[in-house]
Amino acid sequence: MAVNLIGRNFLTLKDFTPEEIRYLLDLASNLKKLKYAGIKPRNLEGKSIALIFEKASTRTRCAFVVAAVDEGAHPEYLGKDDIQLGKKETVKDTARVLGRMFDGIQFRGFKHETVEELAKYAGVPVWNGLTDQYHPTQILADLLTIEEYFGTLKGISFAYVGDGRNNMANSLMIGCAKMGMDCRIVSPKSLFPEKKLVELVKDICKETGGSITVTDDINKGVKGADVLYTDVWASMGEEDQMQARIKLLSPYQVNMKMVKATGKEKTLFLHCLPAFHNNDTTVSKEVGAMEVTEEVFESKFSRVFDQAENRLHTIKAVMVATLGTK
Ligand code: CP
Ligand code: NVA
Repeated sequence: MAVNLIGRNFLTLKDFTPEEIRYLLDLASNLKKLKYAGIKPRNLEGKSIALIFEKASTRTRCAFVVAAVDEGAHPEYLGKDDIQLGKKETVKDTARVLGRMFDGIQFRGFKHETVEELAKYAGVPVWNGLTDQYHPTQILADLLTIEEYFGTLKGISFAYVGDGRNNMANSLMIGCAKMGMDCRIVSPKSLFPEKKLVELVKDICKETGGSITVTDDINKGVKGADVLYTDVWASMGEEDQMQARIKLLSPYQVNMKMVKATGKEKTLFLHCLPAFHNNDTTVSKEVGAMEVTEEVFESKFSRVFDQAENRLHTIKAVMVATLGTK
């Protein structure tokens, strides 16, 4: 049966079949080719989309804005101090108001329940642009980047190294499992992902031929990995834990020794960004945390800016697929 995602929310990849994820990746790849050819299909002509941001963003915000404009839609940025959400007005009421005016709503913020509540009451597609629990639009960009590099996803060994229970680790496990990949979460035991989620991912793997390993053994975790992936050691909202995390996660830094320990010649390094890889930002100067060395970040193994660009094409695919064309 042909995949049709019109009217669907995009809250977590748990809700999507491998065929539906494949459809979104193929659509993103096609939209990317059209953009490169200078063709603007304007699939979303006349539509308006709301972009709610409780947390800061460079890539996600810009990807939604540029994707909307490329497709002829109007994007409206609603920052945390711009609207009444959660202060003078409930999420449920805000959802019903925005749903009467906009064709789709993006939410980035803290509680995953907020994006679920928006989706429940808006009556239009709601897209999760990152919550404390999940970051599904990022995973589409990651999968597209991996596929562009290796020509396939199935059977690729993927090692995520660092904070094993943050939004990235949670979402990557699901995305890799759905696409039949060999996923390893490599982190200290105290940062292992929730058992319930690992069990769910194991069930997905039974269907897709993928596999999941959770380990604190770095050498075991990265050996044979085609992809090394990391993220910041303290996510947005957890900044006060940075010093403790540095102590805990320093051995898990992605450096050339780790790249060599994969034993692969064509290792791919990915990071959702923003990344601490040198002391050139105010925050990295202050905290000194480095989940990846400058050497790896700037090496031939790194495709982090292809990955960042792919946020645009994949977010565009999510909007076009769920809103439908004119
Ligand atoms: N990767 C990502 O979501 O980046 P931003 O926080 O800049 O949106
Ligand atoms: N885990 C990070 C991802 C940023 C894109 C955070 O939530 O801050």
